[in-house]
Amino acid sequence: MANNYKIAVLPGDGTGPEVVAEGKKVLDVAAKKFGFKLDMTDFDFGGDRYLRTGEILPDSASGDLKKFDAIYLGAIGHPDVKPGILEKGILLRLRFELDQYINLRPVKLYPGVETPLKDKGPEHIDYVVVRENTGGIYTGTGGVSMKGTEHEVAIQSMVYSRFQVERCLKYAFEYAQRHGKKARGKGDANTLGLVGKTNVLTYVFDLWERAFHELGDSDFADVNREYYHVDATCMWMVKSPEWFDVLVTSNMFGDIITDLGAITQGGMGIAAGGNINPEGVSMFEPIGGSAPKYTGQGIINPLASIVAGAMMLDTLGETEASVAIENAVMEVTGKKLKSLSAGNMGYSTSEVGDLVANLL
Ligand code: IPM
Ligand code: MN
Repeated sequence: MANNYKIAVLPGDGTGPEVVAEGKKVLDVAAKKFGFKLDMTDFDFGGDRYLRTGEILPDSASGDLKKFDAIYLGAIGHPDVKPGILEKGILLRLRFELDQYINLRPVKLYPGVETPLKDKGPEHIDYVVVRENTGGIYTGTGGVSMKGTEHEVAIQSMVYSRFQVERCLKYAFEYAQRHGKKARGKGDANTLGLVGKTNVLTYVFDLWERAFHELGDSDFADVNREYYHVDATCMWMVKSPEWFDVLVTSNMFGDIITDLGAITQGGMGIAAGGNINPEGVSMFEPIGGSAPKYTGQGIINPLASIVAGAMMLDTLGETEASVAIENAVMEVTGKKLKSLSAGNMGYSTSEVGDLVANLL
């Protein structure tokens, strides 16, 4: 019997629904071609629902979503809602409640895509950031006192437990074993680089560094280990991205360096990520946001959403279909699109979806 996957779809705000529609189009074609079934159910979480009902996310949401095999997300963020409310109340809350402790963000320059990095091409920009996704400053303790006075004190601490660090590192080592440069035939070693700040954050990144080497010695001796300070990482991501293979880092550092990574791979029209719970339900999203000013015009680029769909299939075990979608996307960027930016692709949103679907 064909595998049948239950997918929760959260189109969300702004251009989210438009890009998700193209992703679904491509996923449906992939399912037919590769002989599996996708049973998709829409949820209306987002800014419009919040403005209509006053409820950001029903308490039942994560329980309901746990019944699915994966979640396919468009974008969260609404121009009429104060920044932070929906991001924290929907996106971050789901990441935490579903314990999606990994944020997997490939930084890969596809053929034909312009990068702002001088003299760099697809052979140079092809690495992956494994970002810890449920800890650090994002969930650390904190608070404010004497707010609004000249004595105001605000605290937001970077808190990591050995458990959180270790499970993230374990995922990253295993990822490097399976998808590192050697595994992909692009080098003679699989290398995991820890990105930290051991020269200043001497407690938190000491914990990361010790766990990194202890786990490496005991269970992953076949994976090369490197350590980089986060500030230096930013320089090398621009100057020598070809040095990198798989990087692992904390939540906040990962958030920052993956925006830098995204712009080197052509920007928000193409960058996708997965919020992964290796033992539970994972959620896949284009990392670009809701781009409200382009809503409803049919000019937004759906490729990031389509690539997020491919990542979802890979995590579900449909690797062949995932690779086929990515290959089709690369053909579209390499041979068809004028540019990745909204309104300048040479095609409409749904035409880009059609191009990928037809190539499949
Ligand atoms: C991201 C975003 C989120 C984050 C925001 C919207 C809360 O920037 O997915 O990288 O900080 O994780
Ligand atoms: Mn971010």
